[in-house]
Amino acid sequence: LDDDGGKEQAGETAVHLPVLLEEFVAAADVKHGDNWVDGTFGRGGHTRALLERGACVLALDCDAEAAAAAHELTREYPGQLVWRQGNFAELGKWCKQEQKSDLDGVLLDLGVSSPQIEAAERGFSFRSNGPLDMRMDRRNPLTASRLVAEWEEARLARIFYEYGDEKQSKRIARAIVEWREREPLTTTAQLAGLVERVVGGRGGGRIHPATRVFQALRMAVNAEREALVSVLPQAVELLRAGGKLAVISFHSGEDKIVKRFMKEHAQAERHDPAAAVNPPNPAHWFIKTKRFLPSRAEAARNPRARSAVLRVAWRNAKAFKKG
Ligand SMILES: C[S@@+](CC[C@H](N)C(=O)[O-])C[C@H]1O[C@@H](n2cnc3c(N)ncnc32)[C@H](O)[C@@H]1O
Repeated sequence: LDDDGGKEQAGETAVHLPVLLEEFVAAADVKHGDNWVDGTFGRGGHTRALLERGACVLALDCDAEAAAAAHELTREYPGQLVWRQGNFAELGKWCKQEQKSDLDGVLLDLGVSSPQIEAAERGFSFRSNGPLDMRMDRRNPLTASRLVAEWEEARLARIFYEYGDEKQSKRIARAIVEWREREPLTTTAQLAGLVERVVGGRGGGRIHPATRVFQALRMAVNAEREALVSVLPQAVELLRAGGKLAVISFHSGEDKIVKRFMKEHAQAERHDPAAAVNPPNPAHWFIKTKRFLPSRAEAARNPRARSAVLRVAWRNAKAFKKG
């Protein structure tokens, strides 16, 4: 679960420590002039590593606040970086617009960055009071407070359960509905207090009782699952033979999506129990897949890394065909 671990205070601003950076760099095996897309620029930790090794990077982030770090890197590495405020769910569109194809790699480092969590006014954290917002892209109309005001009780319960693995999902959804019948639920402190009262001592464990609900709401507000499911085939279509798809996830539900996608498309044959000979898999897109976990040293240094998983898949030489 990503919480606000992994931050370091530098004056007023939280610094984002890039996760699984060494493992990513080793797998990326960047050659001078390689073409990469970083779909989750954040503060540019991974992009910087690509630029240092001579790659050209198209970087996206749906959060306008990523712009300052991007402009700094653009100055440091002239001609190598293009940053756009955009959603990686539209990867194909962005690459077409920026005339990027035959990519050497696509990176997605999912979720939120430490500076986003740390900024109380963004509403991602139960640790500091702020508006219940949680939008990565503040141009979107759906805030977390609007979501808890408008979504049906059963739908709220479902997202708490599915995105947050929250066992008390139904009781929390009920308590939200009871609250909103009296007054609007508009702050992170109100929601954190409500969850704490419902879950009470039953939260047990080492994490704050509101962690799961906050994570689930964030994923729903930003349609994170939908974006992930939609980007994976788009990324494959853009890779050259031998190009890499690298995804870092922090949530078992997301990792499952990535793992299944990579596995299905790494099989040379379809496993058809009815067939005498297994037919070839027309969507055999990957020659190899590999999983990386953080080292003990990284997990000790950066609590945010503890739940991280990096999966890399290498594209095969066949022409990509949809379907
Ligand atoms: C974990 S951080 C990435 C950190 C980055 N790798 C670094 O080292 O600085 C994830 C970033 O991706 C952005 N993001 C999340 N989902 C996105 C999406 N669907 N499209 C574009 N950006 C997204 C978030 O706004 C956040 O800045």
